[in-house]
Amino acid sequence: MKTLTVNLKERSYRVIVGGGVLARAGKILSRHGFRTAPVIVANSTVLRLHGDGLLGALRGAFGPSPLIRIPDGERYKNHQTLLKIYDGLFRARADRRSWILAFGGGVTGDIAGFAAATFMRGIRFVMVPTTLLSQVDSSIGGKTGINVPQGKNLVGAFHQPSAVIADTGVLETLPGRQLQSGLFEVIKCGAIRSRPLLDYIDRRLPDILNRHPGALEHIVVAAARIKADVVALDETEGGLRMILNYGHTIGHAIEAAGCYRRFTHGEAVAWGMLAALGYGRELGVLGAKETGRLIRLIQKAGRLPAVDRLEPDEVWRSLLRDKKFGGGDIRMVFLRSLGEGAVFNGIEAPSLRRFLGRFLGGNGDLD
Ligand SMILES: NC(=O)c1ccc[n+]([C@@H]2O[C@H](COP(=O)([O-])OP(=O)(O)OC[C@H]3O[C@@H](n4cnc5c(N)ncnc54)[C@H](O)[C@@H]3O)[C@@H](O)[C@H]2O)c1
Ligand SMILES: [Zn+2]
Repeated sequence: MKTLTVNLKERSYRVIVGGGVLARAGKILSRHGFRTAPVIVANSTVLRLHGDGLLGALRGAFGPSPLIRIPDGERYKNHQTLLKIYDGLFRARADRRSWILAFGGGVTGDIAGFAAATFMRGIRFVMVPTTLLSQVDSSIGGKTGINVPQGKNLVGAFHQPSAVIADTGVLETLPGRQLQSGLFEVIKCGAIRSRPLLDYIDRRLPDILNRHPGALEHIVVAAARIKADVVALDETEGGLRMILNYGHTIGHAIEAAGCYRRFTHGEAVAWGMLAALGYGRELGVLGAKETGRLIRLIQKAGRLPAVDRLEPDEVWRSLLRDKKFGGGDIRMVFLRSLGEGAVFNGIEAPSLRRFLGRFLGGNGDLD
């Protein structure tokens, strides 16, 4: 078990990572000063697979906890589910001193976190993330929110959790495609901040994909630490935090052009990183050797659904709509070296558009 700290002064919190920590959740949370039972907001699938362990641990420390079950799937990250959570909170007679425990992947964390940010103008909450993506990414940093018909994550709030408990043991049951999807985000973390993490993934890839407990714990700790450090330096994405968007500018556009069905988020980010590597090579930001090495690692980490059937104009339009694009000024993250991401301003739209056409047309093969 490893404990990391997200340093945000009076709102600092711990991230506890390890195989089997779920069974110790009650004790861990008591030590964090929690005295009453939480209202649990849980994904239905995760509850079926791992609920007994968590509920038992919480019962030991706090007695029985009220439970709000939410249906499985990104399409339920909406205002209807949010209303259902508020309703469950009122039924449980929750008040300003109550707290929520979010149990599931990124969807559960985002919506339960947003409920916590807004119920009675904000109550405490704890994240118990159960996908690789949520353990290394969405549970840390305080971004919460829901999707609306106009787009994904367009309504939300910054609300930091009081603690994060990431049990790498639950990744045992995660579908393979979800594991790979999370792994691409881990690779992203290494690419922007830690060459040793990239070296580790390169060396231990078979162990990671076979869910070797030590290997999983290693990558979750390493990637979560990177996210925690970057968030601590720039909580509200004024500057440095933008490097976490490496692969996300083009990635988001590819994800949207695939109607959020063809690609998982991580797969789209993998394509986004490949595109950023290709375009970065054209701009001369990163050398051929390092570019080639990261391309090979991404390709080795998992099979990606093809992009050559996407319409480049469609991808381009989604790119221009991205809220992170920043008022017409095209900003993108590139690597100065492996392990060092940096934000570049003033990218020329026509040249990026031409590159994108070639990239998608050749299904990412730039040679
Ligand atoms: N807040 C942030 O900073 C942030 C960052 C990145 C992504 N996100 C959000 O996170 C969401 C994606 O998260 P996700 O990839 O975790 O998706 P998810 O929450 O939908 O989980 C993916 C699937 O895995 C299943 N699952 C979860 N844990 C499991 C386990 N241990 N065993 C078996 N099955 C399990 C779920 O039931 C679900 O079907 C998106 O909505 C995205 O917008 C938020
Ligand atoms: Zn992401």
